[in-house]
Amino acid sequence: MSAHWDDEFAEFGQKFRRKTRKPQGRRKIADLTGSETGDVTDDTVRRLLDLGHITEVVCELKSGKEATAYIAQGPKGTALLKIYRDSAARSFKNDAVYREGQVILDQRAKRAMEGRSRKGLDMLQEGWVMAEYAHLWQLWQAGLNVPEPLVGPNVKTYAETVPAVLMRLIGTEDQPAPRLSDVRLTPAEARDAWEQAVTGMAQMLKLGYAHGDYSTYNLLWWENTVTIIDFPQLTTRQNPNFSELLRRDAQSLAVSFRKHGLQESPEQTLREVQRRALGPAPEPRVLLP
Ligand SMILES: Nc1ncnc2c1ncn2[C@@H]1O[C@H](COP(=O)(O)OP(=O)(O)OP(=O)(O)O)[C@@H](O)[C@H]1O
Ligand SMILES: [Mg+2]
Repeated sequence: MSAHWDDEFAEFGQKFRRKTRKPQGRRKIADLTGSETGDVTDDTVRRLLDLGHITEVVCELKSGKEATAYIAQGPKGTALLKIYRDSAARSFKNDAVYREGQVILDQRAKRAMEGRSRKGLDMLQEGWVMAEYAHLWQLWQAGLNVPEPLVGPNVKTYAETVPAVLMRLIGTEDQPAPRLSDVRLTPAEARDAWEQAVTGMAQMLKLGYAHGDYSTYNLLWWENTVTIIDFPQLTTRQNPNFSELLRRDAQSLAVSFRKHGLQESPEQTLREVQRRALGPAPEPRVLLP
């Protein structure tokens, strides 16, 4: 393994130590839209309200490295609103691994992104958000257990919400679904969750994707069902790092399930994922007009 991948793993290890969920500060909509700071979050929330995609932001759920998750209400019910950080404040350090193999036809855009100018960073940010929507739509329509995207499937519509992604909240407003990393499971539940997690990874592989950050930190647990989240870094086989990312996903899945008492090896896990990827695909979802 190269030094590069060792670095990646060191950073990855950090993630496993972030166990506790931040307290849920109830931030009123007035706090988000009342200020005159020109803050990205305020502007985004105001735009989503104006466009009618949401009617209310209920509270902040979790503030992560790249984005902050809020619970919101909208015309389609309770939503999870994920607002990406200001592009200049975001670290794009690890983007390259996931973006390798992507073809960018617009040469000026390509140079701006490589040069990391403000404009370039905004473009990267936009690409990242649009990718999360596109992946959500594709996986959801293919019948996988992922949150239903609440804007789109027309690209023009979801482009309106950048730098935010709006999807159905798993769980309820009062009790959002916990991550598998945060719950205690009985041995039978742990085995059930494991089976679902392996099948979910296999279903993505069948569609030609590696998640790129697959572990109990990006799997929700609600009513005995596993829902996969967090898709901006999904990669395809055209990425030269694909096999390595897939192997790493199998490893992080296996390692993150150890706290639930499962002792599957990363190699066994990968083989099982590959075996199940040859099996039947889930029933596709039909889009209602
Ligand atoms: N559809 C959803 N329903 C309920 N909760 C969700 C949903 N999507 C995301 N969350 C919650 O919001 C958190 C952040 O979402 P996500 O993992 O997509 O963002 P992130 O920027 O990668 O955050 P992190 O760096 O913490 O992983 C998740 O850990 C989960 O607790
Ligand atoms: Mg995440």
